[in-house]
Amino acid sequence: MKDQLSYMTKAAEHGPIVDLPILFERYYLVRGPALIQQALTQGHTVMRKDRFTHELGRVMGQGLVTSEGDLWRRQRKLVSHAFIPRRIRTYGDAMVEAAHRSLDRWADGDVLDIHAAMAELTLDVVGRTLFDADVRGEAKEVGKALQVISDFYTDVLEKPIVPPEWWPSPSMRRFRRNAHKVDRIVRRIIEDRRQSGEDRGDLLSALLQAQDDGGGGMSDQQLRDECITLFLAGHETTSLALANTFYLLSQHPEIERQVHAEAADVLGNRRATSEDVSRLVLSERVIKESMRLYPPVYAIGRQLTEDYELGGYVVEKGVTLLFVPWVTHRHADYFNDPLRYDPDRWLPERAGALHKYAYFPFGGGPRICIGNHFAMTEAILLLSTLIREYRFELIPGQTLRLKPSVTLRPAEGLQMKLTRPGPNTAKAA
Ligand code: HEM
Repeated sequence: MKDQLSYMTKAAEHGPIVDLPILFERYYLVRGPALIQQALTQGHTVMRKDRFTHELGRVMGQGLVTSEGDLWRRQRKLVSHAFIPRRIRTYGDAMVEAAHRSLDRWADGDVLDIHAAMAELTLDVVGRTLFDADVRGEAKEVGKALQVISDFYTDVLEKPIVPPEWWPSPSMRRFRRNAHKVDRIVRRIIEDRRQSGEDRGDLLSALLQAQDDGGGGMSDQQLRDECITLFLAGHETTSLALANTFYLLSQHPEIERQVHAEAADVLGNRRATSEDVSRLVLSERVIKESMRLYPPVYAIGRQLTEDYELGGYVVEKGVTLLFVPWVTHRHADYFNDPLRYDPDRWLPERAGALHKYAYFPFGGGPRICIGNHFAMTEAILLLSTLIREYRFELIPGQTLRLKPSVTLRPAEGLQMKLTRPGPNTAKAA
């Protein structure tokens, strides 16, 4: 268990569904795409989120990630108003503006920790899109506090027993302090917005306006839980996808040149907009392929609430099923030459041959990531905006080592140097 990823990869060699006794609990690793599809799309009525996901409820409350049953169903409907395509298109400008603010701070020759730089950028995006401009300073504070909270979970998940919230350790005290801070700020932002009644075009406005069939909206508590959930679920995942993309491109300079050329060609000298996303087709393939090799959410867990038949076995109530993009995405049964970084495997003529659930970085079934289109729009717009201006070169002597937590984080920062692409780079592609 010291090396979870290798352990699961080796275990998966025993078959498409494998019994994994871990400590005192029972897990079944499900790696076959057809079984994953069956469980996530049809079996969801006899499953709930796994124990670790429920631990996140200490901060997220009863938001979409952690809630279950009727409450989840109602909230999913309400929150989905904030993620309709028309709304996502309007968030594009805030995404691009955030990218330009990062560019304003950078200069030719700078060396960045790419994961920290992308985390800062996607935090800025989620702050702007969730709470618009009026509370940008506070959104930043919330972001910082949530970073402390994410780090806390990384440490906690490595321990066999999660300590209760009253535990008098320094890390638990820091956790509590930051959780209260987030709570206080988010509640105040909601209260101010309710009073002003203004539609600022951001996610919060969409959440405030959302009504169910009976005309009911969300309570302040639900709004608080959903805002914090979106903040937490929305920024680290996308930042990992982007940072890992820059790392992989630095290892594949020919592809990197082509992505630069596409950005230069589609955007010219103007700012990107959401309308460009459909034309940035190579950027999309590159990001998809990065998330195949390095899925930000590397494992998805579901605990069975009843016995369930899967793949010819009766899996007992209480067992946790693990669907592990890291394992399935890298398995030779589903991908040719699976460890090769090959964005062209996502060309329509090649991707059509893949099983729909051989690739599931956003999960699947009714609980599929509600932010998946938001995330792809964001990743494509940020990648093309940044790569048009700079090449990201890995400072030699480093490789990407991973530290699985709730997300698949880097074990340490990766230093990358920014250089302006040469005048002929675009043509060379
Ligand atoms: C590359 C970026 C992202 C990745 C890889 C990702 C991945 C995932 C995955 C795998 C799940 C399903 C978890 C499960 O079934 O247990 C999920 C759920 C969720 N994600 Fe994302 N996500 C990303 C970006 C975002 C963004 C940008 C937002 C919001 C702004 C978001 C909000 C959510 C929420 C609210 C859920 C829970 C949905 C539900 O259960 O109804 N995610 N995400």
